[in-house]
Amino acid sequence: MNAISHQIQLLRRPTGLPTPDDFALREVPLPALQEGEVLVTNQWLSVDPYMRGRMSEAKSYVPPFPLNGPLDGGAIGVVEASRHPDFAVGDRVSSMQGWRDRFVANGAQLTRLPDTRLPPQLFLGALGMPGMTAWAGLHKVARLQAGETLLVSASSGAVGTMAVQLAKQAGARVIGSTGSADKVAYLKTLGADAVINYRETPDLDAELARLAPEGIHVYFENVGGAMLDAALNHMALHGRIVLCGLIAQYNGQGSGPRNLAQVIRKRILIQGLLVSDHWQHYGEFLAEAILAFEAGALQAEETVSTGLASMPQAFIGLFEGRNTGKMLVKLD
Ligand SMILES: NC(=O)c1ccc[n+]([C@@H]2O[C@H](COP(=O)([O-])OP(=O)(O)OC[C@H]3O[C@@H](n4cnc5c(N)ncnc54)[C@H](OP(=O)(O)O)[C@@H]3O)[C@@H](O)[C@H]2O)c1
Repeated sequence: MNAISHQIQLLRRPTGLPTPDDFALREVPLPALQEGEVLVTNQWLSVDPYMRGRMSEAKSYVPPFPLNGPLDGGAIGVVEASRHPDFAVGDRVSSMQGWRDRFVANGAQLTRLPDTRLPPQLFLGALGMPGMTAWAGLHKVARLQAGETLLVSASSGAVGTMAVQLAKQAGARVIGSTGSADKVAYLKTLGADAVINYRETPDLDAELARLAPEGIHVYFENVGGAMLDAALNHMALHGRIVLCGLIAQYNGQGSGPRNLAQVIRKRILIQGLLVSDHWQHYGEFLAEAILAFEAGALQAEETVSTGLASMPQAFIGLFEGRNTGKMLVKLD
Protein backbone atom coordinates (compact mmCIF):
# COMPACT_ATOMS: atom_id res chain seq x y z
CA MET A 1 0.00 0.00 0.00
CA ASN A 2 1.28 3.48 -0.84
CA ALA A 3 2.25 5.94 1.90
CA ILE A 4 -0.14 8.80 2.68
CA SER A 5 0.87 12.46 2.91
CA HIS A 6 -1.06 15.15 4.77
CA GLN A 7 -0.51 18.56 3.28
CA ILE A 8 -1.76 22.11 3.61
CA GLN A 9 -3.21 23.42 0.38
CA LEU A 10 -4.14 26.95 -0.65
CA LEU A 11 -7.90 27.20 -1.24
CA ARG A 12 -8.09 30.81 -2.41
CA ARG A 13 -5.81 33.79 -2.80
CA PRO A 14 -5.92 35.84 0.44
CA THR A 15 -6.87 39.48 0.36
CA GLY A 16 -5.14 41.41 3.12
CA LEU A 17 -4.01 39.40 6.11
CA PRO A 18 -4.56 35.67 5.34
CA THR A 19 -7.10 33.77 7.45
CA PRO A 20 -7.20 30.05 8.34
CA ASP A 21 -10.10 29.64 5.85
CA ASP A 22 -7.69 30.36 3.00
CA PHE A 23 -6.07 26.96 3.66
CA ALA A 24 -7.17 23.32 3.86
CA LEU A 25 -5.50 20.23 5.34
CA ARG A 26 -5.80 17.36 2.85
CA GLU A 27 -4.75 13.74 2.64
CA VAL A 28 -2.96 12.68 -0.55
CA PRO A 29 -1.64 9.20 -1.51
CA LEU A 30 2.04 9.19 -2.40
CA PRO A 31 3.36 7.41 -5.50
CA ALA A 32 5.42 4.23 -5.14
CA LEU A 33 9.17 4.90 -4.95
CA GLN A 34 10.95 4.86 -8.31
CA GLU A 35 14.67 4.39 -8.87
CA GLY A 36 16.51 7.55 -7.63
CA GLU A 37 13.64 8.57 -5.31
CA VAL A 38 13.44 8.93 -1.54
CA LEU A 39 10.50 8.88 0.91
CA VAL A 40 10.96 11.51 3.62
CA THR A 41 9.04 12.18 6.85
CA ASN A 42 9.23 15.86 7.78
CA GLN A 43 10.05 16.87 11.34
CA TRP A 44 10.34 20.67 11.08
CA LEU A 45 8.60 23.11 8.74
CA SER A 46 9.83 26.61 8.03
CA VAL A 47 7.39 29.53 8.27
CA ASP A 48 8.55 32.51 6.22
CA PRO A 49 7.14 35.93 5.24
CA TYR A 50 8.08 35.52 1.54
CA MET A 51 5.39 32.81 1.28
CA ARG A 52 2.78 35.60 1.40
CA GLY A 53 3.98 36.87 -1.98
CA ARG A 54 3.52 33.44 -3.54
CA MET A 55 -0.08 33.30 -2.31
CA SER A 56 -0.89 36.21 -4.65
CA GLU A 57 -1.04 36.02 -8.40
CA ALA A 58 1.37 38.93 -8.89
CA LYS A 59 4.42 38.18 -11.02
CA SER A 60 7.57 37.82 -8.95
CA TYR A 61 10.94 36.10 -8.85
CA VAL A 62 9.14 32.85 -7.91
CA PRO A 63 5.85 31.60 -9.41
CA PRO A 64 2.61 31.84 -7.36
CA PHE A 65 1.46 28.80 -5.35
CA PRO A 66 -1.23 26.87 -7.26
CA LEU A 67 -4.75 26.82 -5.83
CA ASN A 68 -5.84 23.42 -4.46
CA GLY A 69 -2.26 22.22 -4.66
CA PRO A 70 0.42 21.82 -2.02
CA LEU A 71 2.23 24.88 -0.74
CA ASP A 72 5.96 24.48 -0.38
CA GLY A 73 8.77 25.86 1.72
CA GLY A 74 11.82 24.82 3.69
CA ALA A 75 11.61 21.59 5.70
CA ILE A 76 13.86 19.23 7.66
CA GLY A 77 13.02 15.53 7.63
CA VAL A 78 14.30 12.00 7.99
CA VAL A 79 14.62 9.44 5.19
CA GLU A 80 12.04 6.70 5.67
CA ALA A 81 12.84 4.68 2.50
CA SER A 82 15.37 5.19 -0.27
CA ARG A 83 16.03 4.05 -3.81
CA HIS A 84 18.81 6.60 -4.23
CA PRO A 85 22.44 5.57 -3.65
CA ASP A 86 23.34 8.77 -1.74
CA PHE A 87 20.55 8.53 0.88
CA ALA A 88 20.00 5.85 3.51
CA VAL A 89 17.12 5.28 5.95
CA GLY A 90 17.59 7.60 8.94
CA ASP A 91 19.52 10.32 7.09
CA ARG A 92 18.53 13.86 8.00
CA VAL A 93 17.74 15.99 4.97
CA SER A 94 16.55 19.47 4.11
CA SER A 95 14.22 20.13 1.20
CA MET A 96 11.73 22.66 -0.15
CA GLN A 97 8.86 20.20 0.48
CA GLY A 98 7.36 21.98 3.47
CA TRP A 99 3.66 22.43 4.44
CA ARG A 100 3.29 18.58 4.47
CA ASP A 101 4.25 15.69 6.70
CA ARG A 102 5.65 13.27 4.13
CA PHE A 103 6.77 13.32 0.52
CA VAL A 104 8.49 11.41 -2.26
CA ALA A 105 11.21 13.29 -4.16
CA ASN A 106 14.15 12.63 -6.39
CA GLY A 107 17.38 12.57 -4.36
CA ALA A 108 18.61 15.56 -6.38
CA GLN A 109 15.98 17.70 -4.59
CA LEU A 110 17.37 16.85 -1.14
CA THR A 111 20.39 18.07 0.81
CA ARG A 112 21.86 15.96 3.59
CA LEU A 113 22.40 18.03 6.76
CA PRO A 114 26.03 18.58 7.74
CA ASP A 115 27.42 16.45 10.53
CA THR A 116 26.97 18.51 13.70
CA ARG A 117 25.38 18.09 17.11
CA LEU A 118 23.52 21.37 16.69
CA PRO A 119 19.70 21.09 16.57
CA PRO A 120 18.57 20.25 13.00
CA GLN A 121 15.94 23.01 12.91
CA LEU A 122 18.75 25.59 13.01
CA PHE A 123 19.18 24.78 9.32
CA LEU A 124 15.80 26.42 8.65
CA GLY A 125 16.72 29.55 10.59
CA ALA A 126 20.07 30.87 11.74
CA LEU A 127 22.08 28.29 9.76
CA GLY A 128 19.71 28.29 6.80
CA MET A 129 18.16 30.79 4.43
CA PRO A 130 17.39 33.53 7.02
CA GLY A 131 20.89 33.42 8.55
CA MET A 132 22.43 33.48 5.10
CA THR A 133 20.24 36.48 4.23
CA ALA A 134 21.60 38.42 7.21
CA TRP A 135 25.20 37.49 6.38
CA ALA A 136 24.89 38.32 2.67
CA GLY A 137 23.07 41.59 3.38
CA LEU A 138 25.71 42.79 5.82
CA HIS A 139 28.86 41.48 4.20
CA LYS A 140 28.16 41.20 0.46
CA VAL A 141 25.66 44.02 -0.08
CA ALA A 142 26.26 46.68 2.61
CA ARG A 143 29.91 45.78 3.21
CA LEU A 144 29.47 46.85 6.82
CA GLN A 145 32.61 48.25 8.45
CA ALA A 146 33.71 48.23 12.09
CA GLY A 147 32.66 51.42 13.86
CA GLU A 148 29.65 52.04 11.61
CA THR A 149 26.12 52.46 12.96
CA LEU A 150 23.63 49.87 11.70
CA LEU A 151 19.85 50.02 12.05
CA VAL A 152 17.98 46.70 11.67
CA SER A 153 14.18 46.58 11.46
CA ALA A 154 12.23 43.43 12.50
CA SER A 155 15.42 42.84 14.46
CA SER A 156 13.93 40.17 16.75
CA GLY A 157 13.03 37.85 13.87
CA ALA A 158 14.93 35.08 12.09
CA VAL A 159 16.92 37.38 9.79
CA GLY A 160 17.07 40.25 12.27
CA THR A 161 18.54 38.34 15.22
CA MET A 162 21.34 37.04 13.01
CA ALA A 163 21.93 40.51 11.50
CA VAL A 164 22.25 42.00 14.99
CA GLN A 165 24.74 39.37 16.18
CA LEU A 166 26.84 39.27 12.99
CA ALA A 167 27.01 43.07 12.94
CA LYS A 168 28.20 43.17 16.56
CA GLN A 169 30.86 40.60 15.66
CA ALA A 170 31.91 42.87 12.79
CA GLY A 171 32.42 45.74 15.26
CA ALA A 172 29.38 47.85 14.33
CA ARG A 173 27.15 49.82 16.68
CA VAL A 174 23.72 48.21 16.35
CA ILE A 175 20.27 49.74 16.78
CA GLY A 176 17.33 47.37 16.48
CA SER A 177 13.63 47.96 16.11
CA THR A 178 10.94 45.56 17.22
CA GLY A 179 7.38 45.36 18.52
CA SER A 180 7.39 44.45 22.24
CA ALA A 181 9.21 45.08 25.51
CA ASP A 182 10.14 41.38 25.81
CA LYS A 183 11.74 41.47 22.40
CA VAL A 184 13.62 44.66 23.31
CA ALA A 185 15.03 42.89 26.38
CA TYR A 186 15.96 39.82 24.33
CA LEU A 187 17.79 41.91 21.72
CA LYS A 188 19.84 43.55 24.48
CA THR A 189 21.00 40.07 25.54
CA LEU A 190 22.18 39.54 21.95
CA GLY A 191 24.34 42.66 22.23
CA ALA A 192 22.19 45.30 20.54
CA ASP A 193 23.37 48.73 21.71
CA ALA A 194 19.90 50.27 21.53
CA VAL A 195 16.47 48.95 20.60
CA ILE A 196 13.35 50.87 19.59
CA ASN A 197 9.94 49.41 20.45
CA TYR A 198 8.18 50.93 17.46
CA ARG A 199 4.73 50.25 18.91
CA GLU A 200 5.55 52.40 21.95
CA THR A 201 7.48 55.13 20.13
CA PRO A 202 5.14 57.82 18.84
CA ASP A 203 7.97 59.85 17.29
CA LEU A 204 10.37 57.53 15.44
CA ASP A 205 12.17 60.54 13.96
CA ALA A 206 13.01 61.99 17.35
CA GLU A 207 14.11 58.59 18.66
CA LEU A 208 16.46 57.98 15.73
CA ALA A 209 17.86 61.51 16.10
CA ARG A 210 18.62 60.67 19.73
CA LEU A 211 20.06 57.21 19.07
CA ALA A 212 22.05 57.98 15.93
CA PRO A 213 23.23 61.60 16.19
CA GLU A 214 26.04 60.91 13.68
CA GLY A 215 23.60 59.26 11.26
CA ILE A 216 22.89 55.67 10.25
CA HIS A 217 25.60 54.26 7.98
CA VAL A 218 23.71 51.08 7.07
CA TYR A 219 19.98 50.36 7.32
CA PHE A 220 19.04 46.65 7.06
CA GLU A 221 15.41 47.04 6.05
CA ASN A 222 12.93 44.25 6.69
CA VAL A 223 9.72 46.22 7.25
CA GLY A 224 9.05 49.37 5.18
CA GLY A 225 6.35 51.89 6.04
CA ALA A 226 6.92 54.40 8.84
CA MET A 227 10.28 52.91 9.85
CA LEU A 228 11.69 53.38 6.34
CA ASP A 229 10.46 56.98 6.26
CA ALA A 230 12.12 57.69 9.59
CA ALA A 231 15.35 55.88 8.68
CA LEU A 232 15.68 57.85 5.43
CA ASN A 233 15.60 61.08 7.47
CA HIS A 234 18.52 59.89 9.61
CA MET A 235 20.82 58.19 7.12
CA ALA A 236 24.42 59.42 7.11
CA LEU A 237 25.87 60.99 4.00
CA HIS A 238 26.58 58.15 1.52
CA GLY A 239 24.70 55.72 3.77
CA ARG A 240 23.64 52.31 2.39
CA ILE A 241 20.23 50.70 2.63
CA VAL A 242 19.90 46.94 2.16
CA LEU A 243 16.31 46.42 1.01
CA CYS A 244 15.73 42.90 2.28
CA GLY A 245 12.01 42.88 3.04
CA LEU A 246 8.92 45.09 3.38
CA ILE A 247 6.72 42.95 5.61
CA ALA A 248 4.52 45.90 6.64
CA GLN A 249 3.34 46.01 3.01
CA TYR A 250 2.94 42.30 2.21
CA ASN A 251 -0.79 42.27 3.00
CA GLY A 252 -1.48 45.21 0.74
CA GLN A 253 -1.28 48.01 3.31
CA GLY A 254 0.97 51.06 3.22
CA SER A 255 2.79 52.69 0.39
CA GLY A 256 6.32 53.63 -0.51
CA PRO A 257 8.49 56.17 1.30
CA ARG A 258 7.30 59.76 1.23
CA ASN A 259 10.75 61.27 1.55
CA LEU A 260 12.81 59.74 -1.27
CA ALA A 261 14.39 63.16 -1.78
CA GLN A 262 16.66 62.21 1.14
CA VAL A 263 18.29 59.65 -1.17
CA ILE A 264 19.43 62.50 -3.40
CA ARG A 265 20.39 64.89 -0.62
CA LYS A 266 22.48 62.27 1.17
CA ARG A 267 23.58 60.27 -1.91
CA ILE A 268 22.19 57.11 -0.29
CA LEU A 269 22.78 53.81 -2.04
CA ILE A 270 19.71 51.52 -1.89
CA GLN A 271 20.35 47.94 -2.98
CA GLY A 272 17.76 45.17 -3.15
CA LEU A 273 18.84 41.85 -1.67
CA LEU A 274 17.76 38.43 -2.89
CA VAL A 275 19.49 35.75 -0.88
CA SER A 276 19.48 33.29 -3.77
CA ASP A 277 21.86 35.61 -5.68
CA HIS A 278 24.46 34.91 -3.00
CA TRP A 279 24.00 31.16 -2.59
CA GLN A 280 27.49 30.44 -3.97
CA HIS A 281 28.78 31.81 -0.63
CA TYR A 282 26.53 29.61 1.52
CA GLY A 283 29.37 27.16 2.29
CA GLU A 284 31.57 30.00 3.54
CA PHE A 285 28.78 31.38 5.74
CA LEU A 286 27.84 27.95 7.05
CA ALA A 287 31.38 26.96 8.02
CA GLU A 288 31.78 30.20 10.03
CA ALA A 289 28.32 30.05 11.57
CA ILE A 290 28.50 26.39 12.66
CA LEU A 291 31.79 27.08 14.47
CA ALA A 292 30.30 30.18 16.10
CA PHE A 293 27.21 28.28 17.31
CA GLU A 294 29.30 25.39 18.60
CA ALA A 295 31.50 27.86 20.50
CA GLY A 296 28.42 29.66 21.92
CA ALA A 297 29.35 32.88 20.10
CA LEU A 298 25.99 32.95 18.26
CA GLN A 299 22.54 32.24 19.67
CA ALA A 300 19.20 31.48 18.07
CA GLU A 301 15.71 31.80 19.51
CA GLU A 302 12.75 29.99 17.99
CA THR A 303 8.97 30.12 18.29
CA VAL A 304 7.50 26.67 17.76
CA SER A 305 3.96 25.49 17.18
CA THR A 306 3.15 21.80 17.00
CA GLY A 307 1.36 19.81 14.33
CA LEU A 308 0.78 20.35 10.62
CA ALA A 309 -2.66 21.84 11.25
CA SER A 310 -1.04 24.75 13.12
CA MET A 311 0.90 25.86 10.03
CA PRO A 312 -1.62 28.47 8.73
CA GLN A 313 -1.90 30.13 12.17
CA ALA A 314 1.88 30.12 12.57
CA PHE A 315 2.17 31.76 9.16
CA ILE A 316 -0.44 34.43 10.00
CA GLY A 317 1.41 35.01 13.28
CA LEU A 318 4.43 36.36 11.38
CA PHE A 319 2.37 39.42 10.47
CA GLU A 320 1.23 39.89 14.05
CA GLY A 321 4.70 39.71 15.56
CA ARG A 322 3.96 36.45 17.40
CA ASN A 323 7.48 35.10 16.86
CA THR A 324 10.80 35.82 18.51
CA GLY A 325 13.56 34.38 16.34
CA LYS A 326 12.64 31.76 13.79
CA MET A 327 8.97 30.75 13.38
CA LEU A 328 8.77 26.95 13.08
CA VAL A 329 6.23 24.15 13.07
CA LYS A 330 7.29 20.88 14.68
CA LEU A 331 5.70 17.65 13.44
CA ASP A 332 5.31 14.53 15.57
N1 LIG B 1 15.35 39.32 0.32
C1 LIG B 1 15.55 38.08 0.74
O1 LIG B 1 16.23 37.28 0.11
C2 LIG B 1 14.90 37.69 2.03
C3 LIG B 1 15.17 36.45 2.64
C4 LIG B 1 14.57 36.16 3.87
C5 LIG B 1 13.72 37.09 4.45
N2 LIG B 1 13.47 38.26 3.82
C6 LIG B 1 12.62 39.29 4.44
O2 LIG B 1 13.20 39.64 5.68
C7 LIG B 1 12.18 40.04 6.58
C8 LIG B 1 12.29 39.21 7.86
O3 LIG B 1 12.07 37.84 7.54
P1 LIG B 1 12.13 36.73 8.69
O4 LIG B 1 12.01 35.41 8.04
O5 LIG B 1 13.29 37.01 9.55
O6 LIG B 1 10.79 37.03 9.49
P2 LIG B 1 10.70 37.39 11.03
O7 LIG B 1 11.40 38.71 11.20
O8 LIG B 1 11.16 36.23 11.81
O9 LIG B 1 9.15 37.53 11.28
C9 LIG B 1 8.46 38.65 10.87
C10 LIG B 1 8.51 39.79 11.93
O10 LIG B 1 8.23 41.01 11.27
C11 LIG B 1 7.65 41.91 12.19
N3 LIG B 1 6.48 42.52 11.57
C12 LIG B 1 5.41 41.88 11.04
N4 LIG B 1 4.53 42.76 10.54
C13 LIG B 1 5.04 44.00 10.79
C14 LIG B 1 4.60 45.33 10.54
N5 LIG B 1 3.44 45.59 9.92
N6 LIG B 1 5.40 46.36 10.94
C15 LIG B 1 6.58 46.13 11.56
N7 LIG B 1 7.04 44.89 11.84
C16 LIG B 1 6.30 43.85 11.45
C17 LIG B 1 7.23 41.11 13.42
O11 LIG B 1 8.10 41.41 14.52
P3 LIG B 1 7.89 42.72 15.45
O12 LIG B 1 7.64 42.26 16.81
O13 LIG B 1 9.20 43.44 15.30
O14 LIG B 1 6.72 43.49 14.89
C18 LIG B 1 7.45 39.65 13.01
O15 LIG B 1 7.84 38.84 14.06
C19 LIG B 1 10.86 39.84 5.86
O16 LIG B 1 10.48 41.08 5.28
C20 LIG B 1 11.20 38.85 4.77
O17 LIG B 1 10.34 38.92 3.68
C21 LIG B 1 14.04 38.58 2.63
